[in-house]
Amino acid sequence: MTLDVVLGLQWGDEGKGKIVDVLAARYPVVARFQGGPNAGHSIQFGSTSFVLHSVPSGVFRKDAINIIGNGVVLDPTIFREECQAIEALGVPVRERVRIAKRAHLILPTHKLLDAADEAALGKGKIGSTLKGIGPAYSDKTGRNGLRVGDLLDAGFRAKYDTLKQKHIARLAQYKFEYPFDLAEAEARWMQDIEYLKSFEIVDCEYETNALLDAGKAILAEGAQGSMLDVDFGSYPFVTSSSTACAGACTGLGVAPRRIGKVYGVFKAYCTRVGSGPFPTELNDATGEELRQRGHEFGATTGRPRRTGWLDIPALKFAVMISGVTELIMMKADVLDGFDTVKVACGYRVDGKRCDRVPYDVYADIEPIYKEFKGWKGDLGQCRKEEDLPAEFKAYIAYIEQEVGVPIRILSLGPDRAQTLIRE
Ligand code: IMO
Ligand code: MG
Repeated sequence: MTLDVVLGLQWGDEGKGKIVDVLAARYPVVARFQGGPNAGHSIQFGSTSFVLHSVPSGVFRKDAINIIGNGVVLDPTIFREECQAIEALGVPVRERVRIAKRAHLILPTHKLLDAADEAALGKGKIGSTLKGIGPAYSDKTGRNGLRVGDLLDAGFRAKYDTLKQKHIARLAQYKFEYPFDLAEAEARWMQDIEYLKSFEIVDCEYETNALLDAGKAILAEGAQGSMLDVDFGSYPFVTSSSTACAGACTGLGVAPRRIGKVYGVFKAYCTRVGSGPFPTELNDATGEELRQRGHEFGATTGRPRRTGWLDIPALKFAVMISGVTELIMMKADVLDGFDTVKVACGYRVDGKRCDRVPYDVYADIEPIYKEFKGWKGDLGQCRKEEDLPAEFKAYIAYIEQEVGVPIRILSLGPDRAQTLIRE
């Protein structure tokens, strides 16, 4: 069996949660491989919607095994709150979720460091979600981190105190006000690790490979998006993990040759939350219309998202670095009724025509647009290919041709039922 991967191809918030929930019907195992509670994956059931941060989006499917992989950074407090909210819906979360021993822990002081780093950057701030992601991954690669497996060790408290003292020493170099009471957060955190320890804690790499060997396909659920990848995103305005396909191998302990399908999820337009380049951004009434109609407000932080037209060079770049085999287009219904829909088909970078995503995040990038006639009617009601308006078909045919990968799924609304699978 293969490890199939779902990835966001833009700046996050593409709708990965809904798609994983839909695809999970075909996968007995769903696994998160990177990121942490900076993610906000929304799933809608009827009129209620649920936002997942650390738990894989297969948790609402009966019989699905959900793995939090070694590549993830986990905050025990957010994890406990999230799991208890899921349990309150009657879902036996403890039976469905397993956690990698090698996953790293986010400490309360990681959150303080995140806030201090951002405060020190001033105008150049990343726009981090302030969940402690960057500091936790820094400790991981700096070989200081604490892992879930360490919780099972009698010497855990001493390890914790050593790392905390290192953080406190660093924090003393900053002049900033703590955004929360550390002693209180720490007391809660210590209780929450006991809750975390009540879950099945596994050797993720043995678990994933054994499941594949036993004929169980795994769906790897990416967080964030390709343009936020620590290597390939608009550095330093990125997150701190590998959001591209390769991250699924290191984040779950699965070899590259076991990867099967790579689903690339993108919105019919673009959004970005936080700082950094966004060539097709619309700072006008059209941008505001996209934000309102698309409910483009952060699922994790509530911040209004920046909005703009679809960016083909960025999409091709994301498809290239991850070897995307099928595209999944989200939220095209948000564009219903626009007279004109635009797509950036190339850029002018510092005055010169260029079809590559530029290295320089401060370059002057001017998109070159292609215009499409908008469509009338309600895409949210379309259930078959024949229901789709001709103008919309022309729009998606152009994207497929430019990117060179077929669009296999069209999501035309938040509900599971508003999903058109194309053969
Ligand atoms: P999902 O999985 C959108 C952005 C932040 C910031 C940058 C770094 O829901 O798509 P971090 O907290 O990682 O240090 O922030 O990355 N960011 C996201 N934007 N969706 C996300 O996740 C994001 N996770 C982080 O806004 O610009
Ligand atoms: Mg999000």
